Amino acid sequence: MPLSTMQRFIRTCKQANAATCFNAYPPKGRFNMKAVQISDGIYCLPVNLESYQLFEGMWPMPNGISINSYVVQGEKTALIDLIEDINDKPAEFQSELQSIDLTPKSFDYLIINHMEPDHTSWIPTLIKENPAIEIYLTKKAAAVLNSFFSITEHTHIIKDGDTLDLGGGKVLQFFETPNIHWPETMMTFEQSSGTLFSCDAFGAYGTVNDIYFDDQLSKEQHDFFHQEALRYYANIVASFSTFVNKGIARLDDLDIKVIAPSHGIIWRENPKAIIDDYHRFASYMNGPAEKEITLIWASMYGNTAKLVDSIIKGVESEDVPLHVHRVPDEHVGIILASAWKSSGLILGMPTYEYEMFPPMSWVLDMFRRKKLWNKKVLRFGSAGWSGGAQRELDRITEKNKWEFMEPIEWFGAAGQEQHDLAVQRAAELARTIKEG
Ligand SMILES: Cc1cc2nc3c(=O)[nH]c(=O)nc-3n(C[C@H](O)[C@H](O)[C@H](O)COP(=O)(O)O)c2cc1C
Ligand SMILES: [Fe+2]
Ligand SMILES: [Fe+2]
Repeated sequence: MPLSTMQRFIRTCKQANAATCFNAYPPKGRFNMKAVQISDGIYCLPVNLESYQLFEGMWPMPNGISINSYVVQGEKTALIDLIEDINDKPAEFQSELQSIDLTPKSFDYLIINHMEPDHTSWIPTLIKENPAIEIYLTKKAAAVLNSFFSITEHTHIIKDGDTLDLGGGKVLQFFETPNIHWPETMMTFEQSSGTLFSCDAFGAYGTVNDIYFDDQLSKEQHDFFHQEALRYYANIVASFSTFVNKGIARLDDLDIKVIAPSHGIIWRENPKAIIDDYHRFASYMNGPAEKEITLIWASMYGNTAKLVDSIIKGVESEDVPLHVHRVPDEHVGIILASAWKSSGLILGMPTYEYEMFPPMSWVLDMFRRKKLWNKKVLRFGSAGWSGGAQRELDRITEKNKWEFMEPIEWFGAAGQEQHDLAVQRAAELARTIKEG
C-alpha cells in the first residue's frame, strides 16, 4: 500500500527526530555542574541553556546548548570566554569556579575570543568583582567591548600570533580568525597542551551534562553531536563559510591535540573529526553538497499537497536520500540543516496574493541570507488564476546560483499530467544529483 502524503510526512518527521535523537539525549532535569578538568591546569566551565529558549532570539534548540568558559592556570590564571548573564547561569558558573577553589577575583587575565553576548554579557559583573583583571582581545573586539559595556581600561590589543606567557609552562597564543562568527573573532591556542579554544568555531547545539569529551560518547551520542554541529553551523555560521575555510587553513601549522569550543563537546580523542565536519559544511556553499534532496512544501487547501506523493515517488525511484519538511509546521532553523547539506531542493508552494505562500517566502529569504548557494532546484505548485509564486522565487533567489528545472505549475487541482510530470522530473533531479 503506498503511503499517503500525511503518513509520509509523519514518518519523515519521526526519522528526522531519530536522526537528531530528540528527547533521547541530553538528559532532562536540573544540571548540577562542576568544572571539568581537561588537562593539568586547564578546565572547562560549561553552563547549559535549556531547550525552551531560542538561540539568538530566533533559533529553536530542542536539545538546548552549552556555553563553555575555560580556565588556564600557570603561575598566572586566565579565563577564556565567559557565560551569558541569563537566568541562574551566573550562580551556576560561580559554583563551578568554587569547585576548583577559584572566585572571580582569582583571575589575572580575561581572554575574549568573541564579543557576542552569549560569551560576554557577564563581563560587567566580573569586572565589578575583579577591576584589575587584564583583558586581551582584538582591536575590533575592543571597539565592541566599549560600545556594549563602556569598558576601555586594562585592555590589551593582540596582533595575530602574539603570545601571553602565564608562567609554569603555559603559553597562550592568539590567532585572528575574523568572521567566525563576528568580524572581531579570534582563537586562543595553549601551546604546552595543544588545546585550541576556538569559541563558536567547531561548536554544536546540545547541552553537556556528565559527558563532556568525544571519547565518552556512545555511537548514538556521537551521531547526535555531529548532527547538532551541522544544525548549529547552518543556523549560525553558514553565511561565513569562506572565512571558515580561511580560519581552518590558518590552523594548519598548529599541533592541535584538543579542540575546546564554546558550545558543545570537547574533542580530544579525535579533534580532526570536528575540523573535518566544519570543512565539509563550509564546502557545501560552493557545492557539491551531499547527494541528497530536501523537499520543502506548503499548501493551504491541499492542491499542492496532492503532488507531494508523486514527487516522493520520483525521488525514491532513484534511491536518493530525501528529507521532507512542511512549512510553516517546521521552523526554518530545522529545515536549514538538511537543505544546507543537500545538493538538490524541491520546493512546493501555491500562489498567494500574486506572490508565493508567505511562510515559504520566509524560508527562502533565510536561504538567501545564509548563502545557501549552488543547488539544483525543482518547483511545483498550484495557483487559482494568475500565478505569481515563480516570479517571487526568481526574485528572492536571484543571487543564489541555483540551477532551476522547468517548474510544474497548474491551476486548481492537479491532473494525471501533473502527477506524471512530478514523478518524472523528481526522478530526473535525483538522477542528476546521483551522477553529479
Ligand atoms: C488568500 C489567497 C490568495 C490567493 N492569491 C492568489 C493569486 O494572487 N493568484 C493566483 O493565481 N491564485 C491565488 N490564490 C489561489 C491559490 O493559489 C489556489 O487556490 C491554489 O490552488 C492553492 O493551492 P493549495 O490548495 O495548495 O493551497 C489565492 C488563494 C488564497 C487562499
Ligand atoms: Fe557567536
Ligand atoms: Fe556563541
